[in-house]
Amino acid sequence: MGKHTFRVNGERVTVSAPSDVRLLWVLRDLLGITGPKYGCGIEVCRACTSHINGKAFNPCSVPVGQIDSNDEITTIEGLPDTVGKKLHPMQQAWIDRDVAQCGYCQPGQIMAAVAKVREAQQAGREITEADLDDIRNICRCGTYHRIREAIHEGAKQMAADD
Ligand code: FES
Ligand code: FES
Repeated sequence: MGKHTFRVNGERVTVSAPSDVRLLWVLRDLLGITGPKYGCGIEVCRACTSHINGKAFNPCSVPVGQIDSNDEITTIEGLPDTVGKKLHPMQQAWIDRDVAQCGYCQPGQIMAAVAKVREAQQAGREITEADLDDIRNICRCGTYHRIREAIHEGAKQMAADD
């Protein structure tokens, strides 16, 4: 049982867990951060998508021992704080477009969308349909059409807020 220190949603945390326990279970079971959902546990469904140092990743596939003490993990719970608002513009777009059906996949969808839009904006361009095709998060309810509309709307607001 080792001790692991890193940052989650702006706070430094230390947890005791075997190094090979994957981060998703540390977040959910030890830290009580349940926004990242467990769907497959093998980096296929993307329901657990969160950010590590601003980039999308799947904590179900990363052993906690691989997380560096300076790594910053952001989950859907910490997303609004990254823009200093009650809701991130992508979350607002999700509400405005009434995207969610059962909702299970939606935290991961939003986190994937924000990372993808940021990538495009840092490259100095708008999000494209090809970028949206790259987002492989599975939605069993099939809300893909509304997800795509919301990402375009959220991206516009992210650019306006910059
Ligand atoms: S639970 Fe992480 S990708 Fe499915
Ligand atoms: S909204 Fe139900 S799985 Fe996506």
